[in-house]
Formats: sequence, structure tokens, C-alpha cells
Amino acid sequence: MTRAQQIAFFKSVDTPFYFYDLQKLRTVLDALDREINQYKYHIHYALKANANPVILKEMVKRGYGADCVSGGEVQASLDAGFIPDQVVFAGVGKSDAEINLALNNNISCFNAESLQELEVINELAAQKNKIAKIALRLNPDVDAKTHRYITTGLNENKFGINPGDLPQVIELLNTAKNLEFHGLHFHIGSQITDLSAFKHLCLKVNEFNNYFKEHQLYPKTINVGGGLGIDYHNPEEKLIPDFINFFRIFDRFLELDPNQEVHFEPGRSLVANCGELITRVLYIKPGLSKSFAVVDAGMNELIRPALYEAFHKIDNLSNPQNHDKKYDVVGPVCETSDTFGKDVPLPETRRGDLITIQSAGAYGEVMAGNYNLRGIVKTYHSDEINN
Ligand code: LLP
Repeated sequence: MTRAQQIAFFKSVDTPFYFYDLQKLRTVLDALDREINQYKYHIHYALKANANPVILKEMVKRGYGADCVSGGEVQASLDAGFIPDQVVFAGVGKSDAEINLALNNNISCFNAESLQELEVINELAAQKNKIAKIALRLNPDVDAKTHRYITTGLNENKFGINPGDLPQVIELLNTAKNLEFHGLHFHIGSQITDLSAFKHLCLKVNEFNNYFKEHQLYPKTINVGGGLGIDYHNPEEKLIPDFINFFRIFDRFLELDPNQEVHFEPGRSLVANCGELITRVLYIKPGLSKSFAVVDAGMNELIRPALYEAFHKIDNLSNPQNHDKKYDVVGPVCETSDTFGKDVPLPETRRGDLITIQSAGAYGEVMAGNYNLRGIVKTYHSDEINN
């Protein structure tokens, strides 16, 4: 389907909505598959980036596993057809109900983040007469050099088991009857574009791997998380993230036994650039120092700019002329942070024009809310328009 056909469709329906281009998604996943097959790496797609059933179906078709961080995500992954034995469950605050759901469905493993969580999983598994497989999420204290809200691998962050607790954790794993040690898990942050952070992670992983082997616990799986960044400034030209150099770093710097499996949990890098938020201009409001384009999407539909001051490329689909004007593109929500972009270069923009906010396929729809009682955003995808 051509871009002109997509835009004709956009004009025919109510705004705002997310649009997923599945052809773009498949192009990205083809590129990913080429790399992982070379190295025999395993993918667990991070549902938190986008759990739309249409997207999940594409991931299931590829044979990926699922990385979940709540009972809701565990259930969504099972509903979408992921194999339970390829579902992992992470998160610092798993409730008893969520742990029980995962145990009942015999998921592959829990990525456990604290000593107390291990004790609780052991107890709940014992009640069901089951053995819970455990990967330990460790905090490697590596700086991912990304936004402070999405940095997770520093000592000061709440994530992962601190190395100081390891002797007690190892003692528990050796004595707990209903826990089986499976592997190690790391995740240092998201939207990482300085790939040297991953080299530092590999060096830490090697140290932890040796430490566990020295303590007679053999990690069968090494899960290095997600985090690969995308190019928000050039979503069309750079549709495919730098998978080549990303995986090359792990191949070069991880020192593992040939039978240790390496797992990745990408989210954003797979789905961000296949999604856009389509919105209409409600009003043009000349301000004192600049003009505002007030659109019908708000921070409740896409919160990333308000929450992280994140950049998303914005364009006018109705008037593809010279970008010789500048607008602050703002939503209708009663907060100043409800701003998608400041001083955005756009052509002359009018009431009724269609606007695209790009690279919104990751952490867009999933983070949408009902603030100001605006309702939950609609979605469309390219395959349904083709039919
Ligand atoms: N694994 C774990 C344990 C994670 O915490 C995350 C993301 C991922 C994998 C996937 O990371 P990715 O490949 O997508 O970078 N809402 C923020 C991003 C939060 C990321 C949370 N964790 C945003 O909109 O930028």
C-alpha cells in the first residue's frame, strides 16, 4: 500500500488514532532475524513496548518468546499464542496473584529481583507442588548514558539484586526446594544509542558468570535485556536500528560456554518506527511570540514528550510544502506539558490538517490513559486497510 493510499484512509476516519504499518514491522524483524540467526541468539519480545494483539501476532509468527512485567502481560502473551515455556516474567514488584498466575501457566522462568521475592516464589511454588525456574536479575552498575528515568542498571536504581546480597541469594537457591536456578538477567536501560554501554555490560556479565560458576551454580541462560535505541530524528531513512553493530558487540565481548544460551529482550527497537499517531489540527492560535497548532491528540494518547521531553518527528500530511513556518504543536489537555513539540518546522498549517507524530509504535498506545476522560485511543493497521 502506498503512502498516498494510507493518507487517503487517514482522511476518511476520526482522529486521533495509532496506525501500525506491518510492512515496516516485517522489514525490521527480517533484519533482526538475519542477525540473530548468525549468532544463534534468542529473542524475548518486551511486551511493555507495545502489546497490541496485531503486533504480538507478528512476534509469535517469528517464534520469539515474550518478556512480561505483569500478570496482565503474562496473560496477553499466552492469549496471543506465545509458548508458555518461552515466557519470562520480570519486575521488582510481582504480587502473589501474579506469581500464582505465572506458576499455574508453567511459564519459562521468573526474573527475580530480590531475596524476599525469591522466598515468596519458593513458598507459593511449594503450595502448588511446583518447581519455579529462576533467573536472577543483577544490577551491574553500568551507565547506559540515556534519560535518567529510563536508566535501570546503576546502583542507585531500584532494579536488580545488589552484588552484596549474592552470598545470601546463593545460599537460598542451594536450600530452597521449590526453586531451580536457570540463569542470569540484566537490563541497563532503554533508548541506548552509545553502544559502548553494551560493551561495559558484557564485561560485567562475564564477571558475574564466572562468580556463579565458581559457586557451583551454572547459568544456562544469560539474558542481557533490551535497550537498543532508535533514530527518532530520521524514522524513514533509519527504519532499521543498528542491529548489526549491537549484536556484534555481544558476540565479541561476551565470554560464554558454547552451550550457554544468550537471550535478548528488545522492545522499542522492533516496534517504534512502525507506528505513528495521527491527529488533526483543531485550531491555529497565534501566540505573542509564536503560533500554536492545537491538535486533537493529547498527552493521554502519547505521554513520552510530557514525561521525558522525548522528541518525536512531526509532519503535516495535508500540506506537503516548504517547512517555512514554526509551530508549537500542543494537545487539548489542561497541562502545559501537553506539548508534542516546540518550534516544529512545518508548512503553513490550517484547521483540519492531518498531522503525523512519528516513531510512536513503542511506549505509545501502551502508555495511553483516560486523563481528562478523553477515552482510550483507537488503533488501525495496514493489513486491515488493504482488505
Ligand atoms: N527488559 C526489561 C527488563 C526492561 O525493563 C525493558 C524496558 C526492556 C527489556 C525493553 O527495553 P527496550 O528494548 O524497549 O529499550 N517508557 C519508556 C521506556 C521504558 C523502558 C522500560 N523497560 C519510554 O517511553 O522511553
